Amino acid sequence: MSITIAGMTKRFDRTEVLRGIDLDVADGELVALLGPSGSGKTTLLKIIAGLEWPDAGRLSVAGQDWLQLAARDRRIGFVFQHYALFPHMSVRDNIAFGLTVRPRADRPAKAQIAARADELMAFLQIDHLADRFPAQLSGGQRQRVALGRALAIKPRVLLLDEPFGALDAAIRRDLRRWLRGVHEATGSTTIFVTHDQEEAFELADRVVVMGQGRIEQIGHADQIHDHPATPFVARFMGATVELPVVLASGRAAAPGLDLTALPRRALPDGTARLFARPADIRAMPDPAGVWHVTSLASTGAELRLTATRADGAEAEAQMPRRGAPALTKGAPIALRVEAAAIFPDARRDTATPVLPLPKEIAR
Ligand SMILES: Nc1ncnc2c1ncn2[C@@H]1O[C@H](COP(=O)(O)OP(=O)(O)OP(=O)(O)O)[C@@H](O)[C@H]1O
Ligand SMILES: [Mg+2]
Repeated sequence: MSITIAGMTKRFDRTEVLRGIDLDVADGELVALLGPSGSGKTTLLKIIAGLEWPDAGRLSVAGQDWLQLAARDRRIGFVFQHYALFPHMSVRDNIAFGLTVRPRADRPAKAQIAARADELMAFLQIDHLADRFPAQLSGGQRQRVALGRALAIKPRVLLLDEPFGALDAAIRRDLRRWLRGVHEATGSTTIFVTHDQEEAFELADRVVVMGQGRIEQIGHADQIHDHPATPFVARFMGATVELPVVLASGRAAAPGLDLTALPRRALPDGTARLFARPADIRAMPDPAGVWHVTSLASTGAELRLTATRADGAEAEAQMPRRGAPALTKGAPIALRVEAAAIFPDARRDTATPVLPLPKEIAR
């Protein structure tokens, strides 16, 4: 089922939580919503699920207006951020739940429900846990049960809100791979919320980066990584070194920075800001350097360095410790930037301001 969201806004009291969301998800696509805490990811999922209503905008699924449809009629599979299984029900009953509460006319026969639960438990590799209760399961097993419960109704749309949030890194990686497999096998259109970049990029066909109720960028992993659309996305993707530069004929320049590795940009001349990842900055000893090493630390594998320029600018560099040049605290260095995003400063309008016309002329 394809999903179309257009012009969607939502506020809680005076807080604008969604500020005009436009998003198309193709049938069978797996899309990740990525963004910092409070950016509106859960709110967007809840609106799709019919648990919240927007103030304005459209939501249609396979051409049908879902804002006219109650939550129970939407056939959504939902795994919540803080998943809650029914504690007094066995794994089997938890999974079968969505089918047993269907209106009678629509409810499969008991034997069919049991068969569906068995089939899902086998598929999720939890059939040996059928008679256990949630308290007797590990976190990863509970996640699978939660997913089984969501899949039991053969959802038209699957919504997963940080389904692996509470789990440790190794289990997350396993479940990620496994979820990708589930998605490929079921083909359901899936929207997956995470604040883990790696998870988003590894799992999703496309990633939607949200910030403060807006979509900042939609794209594939490499696009978002290499070509952030906004300063927000650049910072969010780890380009934490932010330095003023001057652009001339598409080339950036700044005191003490070697920017010759950067490709020429189709950007207007003038002041701009450069965003780079510490790992894309090389530090080299240079007796004539205008940067000085202010701190130096090793994590074993990596050397992390901060440098300061006479005008107070700061930069961080991170490099493999093996093969790194000999650097000492206080030493003068030169910095070379291997990759960066550049955004021109918002231009002050120097044109004559447009004055409102006197009323009698405007009329
Ligand atoms: N029922 C509510 N009443 C009032 N404010 C709410 C409500 N639900 C969410 N909010 C506010 O809306 C904003 C977005 O919340 P939301 O849960 O959608 O964020 P999120 O992106 O899912 O964050 P997280 O990554 O922490 O889960 C937050 O500022 C939150 O405080
Ligand atoms: Mg959330």
